[in-house]
Amino acid sequence: MSNAPHYEIDVQAFWADPYPDLARMRKKAPIAFVPQLGSTVLTRRDDIFTQEKRIDVFSSHQPAGLMNRLMGHNMMRKDGDAHMTERAAMFPSVSPRAVRDTWLSKFQAHADRILDRLAPEGRADLVKAFALPLSAQCLKDITGLTNMRYQDMDAWSQAMIDGIANYTGDKAVEARCHAATAGIDAAIDDMIPVVSRHPNSSILSVLLAAGQPMENIRANVKLAISGGQNEPRDAISGSVWALLTHPKQLALVRDGKAKWIDAFEEYARWIAPIGMSPRRVAKRWTYGGVDFEPEDRVFLMFGSANRDEACFDEPDRFDITRDTSKSIAFGAGPHYCAGAIASRAMVADVALPSLFARLNGLRLDAAEQVKIGGWAFRGLLNLPVEWDVNSTAGACGRAPTRRT
Ligand code: HEM
Repeated sequence: MSNAPHYEIDVQAFWADPYPDLARMRKKAPIAFVPQLGSTVLTRRDDIFTQEKRIDVFSSHQPAGLMNRLMGHNMMRKDGDAHMTERAAMFPSVSPRAVRDTWLSKFQAHADRILDRLAPEGRADLVKAFALPLSAQCLKDITGLTNMRYQDMDAWSQAMIDGIANYTGDKAVEARCHAATAGIDAAIDDMIPVVSRHPNSSILSVLLAAGQPMENIRANVKLAISGGQNEPRDAISGSVWALLTHPKQLALVRDGKAKWIDAFEEYARWIAPIGMSPRRVAKRWTYGGVDFEPEDRVFLMFGSANRDEACFDEPDRFDITRDTSKSIAFGAGPHYCAGAIASRAMVADVALPSLFARLNGLRLDAAEQVKIGGWAFRGLLNLPVEWDVNSTAGACGRAPTRRT
């Protein structure tokens, strides 16, 4: 075990709001062993930024880890050439070109369809009614599993996330995870003949075309589902909430003085949807006054890095005019998010502009409280809102006229 200073947390309080503890750690013990997490955590942005690239020390290869056991051995749990080969094979489906030429128009069509149904309602929980189905419908396209129900995409993604964090070995959690991976395998089996006859830009199709072994394909499709559903969902609902609670910043975007992408990047800095990425120490190493031992578990705390006062002024403040270039919401090493370009398009080019154009007078529903939680994955649990239902809007309600 590393000789890092110990820092105790109250797990429930940390889940509700990890930022006060993370700020104390950054100040007093930036590399600390947290007994309740059984892990040594790196909390400062520049430490993570430099050390994440030391894959000879902070390895992603975690053979005994729950992710490998439950979801198969995917690229995120590999280092070096083995990782890069699989990442390169996936690239054509998530490249800037694929996003521009293939996915963007599909994402927009999903958003339009969801909003056509939602606009006449006048009130909703936007997590369930918009962010979740939009993220899931887009991910069905990207993965190639268009035969899945969007509800299953969300539920199975969550079941795998719960499964790989099931350090206490809860049997019910493990069973739900197995059911999810079995469902995904069945969906893959159904789609293989379809994408083999009609190849497309989906992950399943490009991995098959690249001749990847079937077990790698299954593992990497599952990775994309476990890592590609809740983050865009949480980024969409979180960005909307942040803008509604900071109306002057929303006005900057509406007046053309800032862009939707500024709002998304700042939200992902402020509340990183993935707050942590784990590593295994591969060899003895000393850094920052701490001796790391082989097999130590290390958590890279992206959520803390993005609030590091050494890199961001008043880091707890949501400010879409700030320079977010030091944000590491998508990671800072070879495992940098493969879906980053697609996510930016989904949230900033489609979700935010479409939602604010279609739901006139969008505001929080004062009758219900917004709930937020998590530290490894952090996001809104609900987003109760209401808006004006404009009977004079065009056939599909797209006229962004404001009620007077
Ligand atoms: C707002 C949305 C998203 C955020 C904030 C996000 C964040 C991240 C982070 C922090 C990592 C780990 C980086 C590291 O350890 O250095 C990651 C990895 C990954 N993400 Fe995302 N992600 C998002 C959306 C997506 C989507 C939509 C997909 C679907 C294609 C996706 C696929 C992946 C994959 C495949 C990896 C592993 C990459 C590798 O091992 O090389 N992500 N993501």
